[in-house]
Amino acid sequence: MKHYLIGYITQTQTTKEAAQQIALQLENNSSQQISIEVCSLETIKNLETYDKIILGSPIHGMRVMPEFSEFLSNHKEQLSGRLQGLYVVSYLYPTCRTFWKKLILRGIQRLSRSHGVTRYAVFGGKLPEAMPTFVRFIFGTPDGAPLDSRDTQEIDRWVNDSLELN
Ligand SMILES: Cc1cc2nc3c(=O)[nH]c(=O)nc-3n(C[C@H](O)[C@H](O)[C@H](O)COP(=O)(O)O)c2cc1C
Repeated sequence: MKHYLIGYITQTQTTKEAAQQIALQLENNSSQQISIEVCSLETIKNLETYDKIILGSPIHGMRVMPEFSEFLSNHKEQLSGRLQGLYVVSYLYPTCRTFWKKLILRGIQRLSRSHGVTRYAVFGGKLPEAMPTFVRFIFGTPDGAPLDSRDTQEIDRWVNDSLELN
């Protein structure tokens, strides 16, 4: 039986919820019996007990949280050969200007490359309250854009299309 770990950092739970959705989709679509643990990065004990690892971070300031990059570099050796995918959760990504989209995408691509990972994704997130007009203007987020840009189907597609399910 393969042992999966979906690890995340979160402040307002959306990256955790994305991890749970990834786990659900893996469970539903794997042709073999698998075990899946979903836990925050701080509570992970021994990475070497897992066969496949997927890790996620919220986007803050257009990049992954510093603790996330630190976790990856501090555990590079144990992650090697196990890290299957990286994902980030970004409220702005689905609606912002191309400039910002590219910035977010380049960040996750760079991180993926330096850890030998070819499967990465940017998922929508959510905000607790609307951004001031001038901030919306800077990012190019349309007036009246919903505060929740999450899409569970997008997560399901990523799991089905990009991850090795066995
Ligand atoms: C301090 C802070 C900074 C943020 N910066 C960005 C950002 O630069 N780009 C973006 O797309 N979303 C940004 N967000 C929105 C988060 O990506 C979004 O709220 C996400 O759902 C948070 O994930 P979490 O619930 O797992 O903490 C920011 C949120 C906070 C609280």
